[in-house]
Amino acid sequence: MTDVLSVPELRAFKERGEKIASLTAYDATFARVLEAAGVEVLLVGDSLGVVVQGHLTTVPVGLEDMVYHTRCVSRVVRRPLVVADLPFASYAEPMQALRSAARLLQEGGAQMVKLEGGRQRMEVMRLLVREGIPVCGHLGLLPQSIHRLGRYRVQGREAQSAQHLIEDACLLEEAGAELLVLECVPATLAETVTAEVTIPTIGIGAGSGCDGQVLVLHDMLGMTPDKPPRFVQDFLPGAGSIEAAVTAYVTAVKAGRFPGPQHVYR
Ligand code: KIV
Repeated sequence: MTDVLSVPELRAFKERGEKIASLTAYDATFARVLEAAGVEVLLVGDSLGVVVQGHLTTVPVGLEDMVYHTRCVSRVVRRPLVVADLPFASYAEPMQALRSAARLLQEGGAQMVKLEGGRQRMEVMRLLVREGIPVCGHLGLLPQSIHRLGRYRVQGREAQSAQHLIEDACLLEEAGAELLVLECVPATLAETVTAEVTIPTIGIGAGSGCDGQVLVLHDMLGMTPDKPPRFVQDFLPGAGSIEAAVTAYVTAVKAGRFPGPQHVYR
C-alpha cells in the first residue's frame, strides 16, 4: 500500500475545482521542504540542466541525469506525485520511449513521466499508456525544441497556432494523457484548453485559468541570475525562510491569487 497522490485523486482536484500546486524538485532536501508545505506534484524537470548543471538549455540533459535526480526526490517523499521528464531525444520511437520511461519509474521511483509535443507523440503516448505508465503531456513552449524555435517566446498567439494547440490537447487526452502542462501561452487559450479537456492542466506562464500551477523552484525563490520571465514571482522576500516562501506559493495557488494579471500573456 502507498499513500502517494493517485492519478484518479488528481482528476478529482479538477472535478471539485481545487487548484493543484506543483513545483520542480531535483534533490532530497528541497523535496522534503516541498512535501511539508503541501505541494501536490513534484516535477523532476529537465530544467535541472539549467538550474543544477549550469547548461544554457535542457537539451544536454540525459536519461542518467533524470534517473539520478528522480531517485533523489522520490526516495524521501511519500504523498506528492513525482513526475519525471523524459529528456531530449529519449522518446523519439515508442520502444525507446518505453525503455526510457520504465527506467524513470523502476530506477527513479517516479509515478508519471512527462513528454513534450502533441500529435507527433501519439504513438509513443499510446504505448506508454497501454503499458500502464501515467503520462503528462506538455504543450505551448517546448524547451527541448529551443534550437528550432530560436528563442523562448509565447506560443499560440495566432488563431491557427491556437487551434492547433487545442487540437493537440484533445488528441493527447484521447491517447491517454493524465495531466497536461501548458507553458507560455495566452491566458485565454489556456482557459479554452482547460475547458475542452477533462484531464487537469498545469500552467506555467499560462494564466490562472489552468487547474494548477507549476514554477521552477529556483525561480520562485529568486535564485536565477538573469531577469526572470514575467510569469515568475519571487516568494522569498517577506516570507523569511524557504519553507515559508513555498507555503506562501501553495497558499497563493490554492486561493487563485497566483498567477495574477501581471504574470499573464495576452
Ligand atoms: O523542466 C521543467 O522544469 C518543466 C517545467 C518548466 C514545466 O518542464
